[in-house]
Amino acid sequence: MNQLHIEPLHDDFGARVTGIAISGDMPDTGVAAIRDAIDTYSFLCFPDQDMTDEKQLAFTRLLGEAEAEHVVLGKTGKVTYFGTVGNVQDDGTKRGNAHANTHYQTGNQLWHSDSSFREVPSFVSILHGYEVPGEGGETAFASMRAAYGRLAGDMRETIEPLHAIHDYVYSRSQVAPVDPNHAASLPPVMHRLVRENPLNGLKNYYVGSHARSIPGCSGADSRRLLDDLLARATRPRDIYAHRWRAGDTAIWDNRCILHRGTGYDADRWRRRMRQTRVVGGEKGVIHTSAMA
Ligand code: OGA
Ligand code: MN
Repeated sequence: MNQLHIEPLHDDFGARVTGIAISGDMPDTGVAAIRDAIDTYSFLCFPDQDMTDEKQLAFTRLLGEAEAEHVVLGKTGKVTYFGTVGNVQDDGTKRGNAHANTHYQTGNQLWHSDSSFREVPSFVSILHGYEVPGEGGETAFASMRAAYGRLAGDMRETIEPLHAIHDYVYSRSQVAPVDPNHAASLPPVMHRLVRENPLNGLKNYYVGSHARSIPGCSGADSRRLLDDLLARATRPRDIYAHRWRAGDTAIWDNRCILHRGTGYDADRWRRRMRQTRVVGGEKGVIHTSAMA
């Protein structure tokens, strides 16, 4: 039953997993096997899942604490658990390229790690595809663990003691204005630049679009280092671009992987995906330091 069949997707990371139905009623052995696969592969795709929001949230909670969705939380103070990714609203209507929300979501086309701008960032994101474009709309992934592994020893030593400030308002305002209440809910936070998975001892660095600066470095040196680390992780050969099929459930490990959307024609296609996230800092997940 819980015999996972795992096919790697890229030399560095990623696997397609069959032989298991994702739900809230999975046996502990199935959950343990998925946790192991997350620690090993960083990105998992489970095709042909018969998903609902209820199942997805129940499964999310088997991996840890469900993360409150930050946009609704910041704007209204209400705790909800799903992010709708794409251009289809709850009532089924589609938003086109000109809609402000379609534009806002293009912020996801910058390489990032989900919720790196929160005091406790996400452990994993879980994204289920209900409707996907016939063309475009891939999500690209790249491993900061593999990139760390490629660094020379002196570079590893240089970055080991450093921290980075992550700031959602900094990153998102490059694309679109951020609602003032939302902005006020997300003050900048500080995280270690180098992190280690406590279960397998593998290290990675932790950058992305929300990483604004490095305390102790000048602005120019901060940008140079953050941009250099990002570029080293995201060369074309480092990337796995996931071409979604309806029914795919993907899980990715935000502790060590970067991702970005690649865009699609929202006038032409419907894209409806539902996302939940698991809070980090629990069950062997790496804790990070909030800004003191
Ligand atoms: C996300 C995300 C990119 C995309 O769901 O967290 O960044 O492909 N998505 O829409
Ligand atoms: Mn994202």
